[in-house]
Parts: sequence; C-alpha cells; structure tokens
Amino acid sequence: MKALSRPIHLLRVRRASAANAVFAAAPRRRFSAATSRASSGGPLPPAPRPVEDRDLAELVRADLHPLSLADLVKHGRPPLSEEALLSSANFALSLVPVRLAHRIQALRNLPYIVVSNPNINRIYNNYLHSLSTLLPWYDPHHPTITDLDSEIRFTSALAELVNTHADTIPILARGFLECRRYISPPDVTRFLEEHLRMRIGTRLIAEQHIALHDSSQPHSDPSARSRMRTEHPSYIGVIDTSLRPATTIELCADWVADICELRYGIRPRVVIDGEPDATFAFVPMHLEYIITELLKNAFRATIENGTASEPIVVTIAPEPASPDPPAFAAPGGNHPGSAAPPSSHRHSIIPLDDNASGVTIRIRDRGGGISPTALPSIWSYSFTTFSADDELPGSSSGDGLAAISSAGAGASSLAGLGYGLPLSRAYAEYFGGGIAVQSLYGWGTDVYLRLKGVGSIAS
Ligand SMILES: Nc1ncnc2c1ncn2[C@@H]1O[C@H](COP(=O)(O)OP(=O)(O)O)[C@@H](O)[C@H]1O
Ligand SMILES: [Mg+2]
Repeated sequence: MKALSRPIHLLRVRRASAANAVFAAAPRRRFSAATSRASSGGPLPPAPRPVEDRDLAELVRADLHPLSLADLVKHGRPPLSEEALLSSANFALSLVPVRLAHRIQALRNLPYIVVSNPNINRIYNNYLHSLSTLLPWYDPHHPTITDLDSEIRFTSALAELVNTHADTIPILARGFLECRRYISPPDVTRFLEEHLRMRIGTRLIAEQHIALHDSSQPHSDPSARSRMRTEHPSYIGVIDTSLRPATTIELCADWVADICELRYGIRPRVVIDGEPDATFAFVPMHLEYIITELLKNAFRATIENGTASEPIVVTIAPEPASPDPPAFAAPGGNHPGSAAPPSSHRHSIIPLDDNASGVTIRIRDRGGGISPTALPSIWSYSFTTFSADDELPGSSSGDGLAAISSAGAGASSLAGLGYGLPLSRAYAEYFGGGIAVQSLYGWGTDVYLRLKGVGSIAS
C-alpha cells in the first residue's frame, strides 16, 4: 500500500505554495541564527509577561481595528526596506494582542463547564500564552520595534504563535463535542462563526508579516533576497497577485485522490474545464483550504454513491471587474434544493477595491446529492453524515467524535469533523465571496464557490 506521508508532505510544502513554503522553511533558519546569537550573549527575547486581568480589560477596551487589505499591502512589494519592515512589524503588533484579548474574553464568556473542558481549556491557555509572549512589546502609544534585532525576535514570536494555534480546529471540535450536553448546537455555531472568522484575520496579519520578513531579509544574505524575488515575483507577503486556481485544483485533487486510494482503493477523477488559465489576486492558503474541503466532499459522495467512475467536473469562470458586481447567488436562489443562508460579514476584510475581478468555480459531482433532511444542517459546525465506524463512509448520521478519535482528525481523513463547509464559507466570505450548494437529490451536487479577487496591487 502506498504511504500517505509523501503526498501530505508534498501538499504541505507546495500547498502553502511559494510564499508559505518560504515562511515554513526560512524563518526557522533565520530564527535559529537569531537564537544562537542570543545564546552567545546577544539580546534575548523579552520574557513572556503573565496576562493580568487589567491587561485584558485595557486591551478589550481598545477597539477592534477593522482589518483592511490596504493595510496589509501598504508596505509595498518585498524585499522591503528596513523602515518598511519595522513598520509592518509594529502594525502587526498594534493589532494582534487586541484580537487575542477579545478571543480570551469570548472564551471566558462560555459557560464555565465548557471552558473547563480540557480541550477548550487548552485553546484558552494557548491564547493566554500567546498574549503573554507579545505583551512585553505592546505599547499602544509608541512603536516599540525600532531595530532589526527586535524585529527578528518579534517575528519569531509571531511564528511561534502561528504554530501554537495550528491545531485549534480539531481540538475545539473535540471539546465542543464533549460538551454537547451543556451547550446547544446553535450556541456552538454562533461562537465558532465569530471565533474562526476572527482567527482567519489574526493569522493573516501574523502570516503576512512573517512572509514579508522572510522575503525581505534586508539584514541577511543578499543572494537569498534576489532568489526570493525571482522565484516568487507575484507574491506580496501571503498574497499571490496572479494565482491560477486550476493549478491549486490539480494539486488538491491529487492529494484528495491519494487519500481515497489509500483508504478506499478508489481514485476519483477531476476534469477541469471553463478557463483554466484564468488568474486573479488571492491568498493561496485560503483557496487551498476551501478547494481541499469541497473536493473531499465531492470525492466522498461519489465513492459512497458508487459513481466514482464519473469524473468530478470543475468549471472555472473568471469574472470581469465590474463597476456594479451582481450580488452572489447560486442558480435556483431559494429553491428548496439550494442552501445558501445569509451569514455575518462583520469579520471580513475591508477590500482594496470593491469591484475587483474575481472567479467563480463550480464543482459538480455525481454523488447522489444531499438528502432533504441533511440539507438544512450542512452549514452547522459539527454536522456530518460521516461515520468513522464504517470502512467506507457510511450513511449513519452522527457526530464527528468517532472520526476524530479513530482518524486522529489528521489532514488525511476524508470527512468527519463537520467543519468543512462552514469554515470554507468563512474563508470565501472573508474577501467578499461566498459558497452556495445546489443539491439535485438522487443525482449529484453543484457547489458554487465565488471568490472576489483582492484587487490590483500597485508595485
Ligand atoms: N458534494 C456533496 N455531496 C453530498 N453530500 C455532501 C456534499 N458536500 C457536503 N455534503 C454533506 O454535508 C455534510 C457536511 O459537510 P462538511 O461540513 O464538509 O463536513 P464533513 O465532510 O466532515 O461531514 C456532509 O457530511 C455531507 O452529508
Ligand atoms: Mg467535508
């Protein structure tokens, strides 16, 4: 049997695609250099400062600055000058602690018995820990990152923060499942809607600075700097200004097919049509997350339905920039077979350009559609029809606990958390797009993913 580690690794490295791969590999090198300098007598990172109630009260009083894309790209194309890099670091520092404090407060507002659950408590402690590592730098009145040494140390703290919170979703999922007697599914969905949308923005701020840091390196090897520029000329931090969705789809389809082949001995096929050469400006990590989840659903449905010999057809339709873009709606609108309830846009990013060109991607499978009883629940966090007890994805309805326990909730499971659709929609809506599902029960499902590009970014 083929080992699964290869494609996962491959996807992880390439998944993150260029900018993220840069971010995954290089900071370690840079930061270990920084650490060894520190251990040989150089400046040490400031010691974490325990978070006190008055810190929290002060941070929560500070308004949540709405995140705008213009802020994320205002430092220009990398490599950044030292001044721009410091400004980017201070900008991230001005936002992240406030956002962490709001999350800590939201977690504290959950019923006590829920916050006491070991999994939820672990997440709560991760937030406290991350905030304590940033507090020593935080001063709402003055920029405190004023030289490259502190910038390196701060970026290292941000990278640690991103890592600490990498597994939040399966842990929260397990925690809320264990607490289901004490908190209702709508309350869980309400909490997660806000929490996970905020998390998208916080990670974006941190990853943007880390990627800018990494692709700038004004303080290091000039050859690395020019290599970075020629290898990834279309990147500004984590944003790819000419992202080709067809490439992402091929990559993700290959990976999801590997999982299916390994687990079920079946390798569903994907056919891409429409305009595969379309490109737009977007965050590759977000597109990869969404496409992987939508393809997992489509592949699973065709396997379960015994129609895996029918290809999944992915149509790419670029959408021209328009002064008056149509509101997003799936064909069928409020037809009983469709499901596209409104959701909150409060936590999305302020766009650069409201009329940026985007792309609509339709994923069409012959997997039998979604039953009318399941359809109203598909956008709820934790709703799944997957049962890990079955060798093949089964039809017995349940929650994801079995899947989490047996599959380890790792990236290699095909389904089971019930977070794929709602979280994909949160990612799509973050930049003003959306997802609509059109089920033709007994036949198959069309998923329409509309993504608004982030707009044209001046050099
Ligand atoms: N393409 C599809 N065909 C049939 N059913 C689907 C499809 N996409 C989603 N579903 C249904 O929606 C449910 C929720 O999907 P999702 O949020 O991705 O969670 P999960 O895949 O972990 O179950 C699935 O369990 C499945 O019942
Ligand atoms: Mg899924």
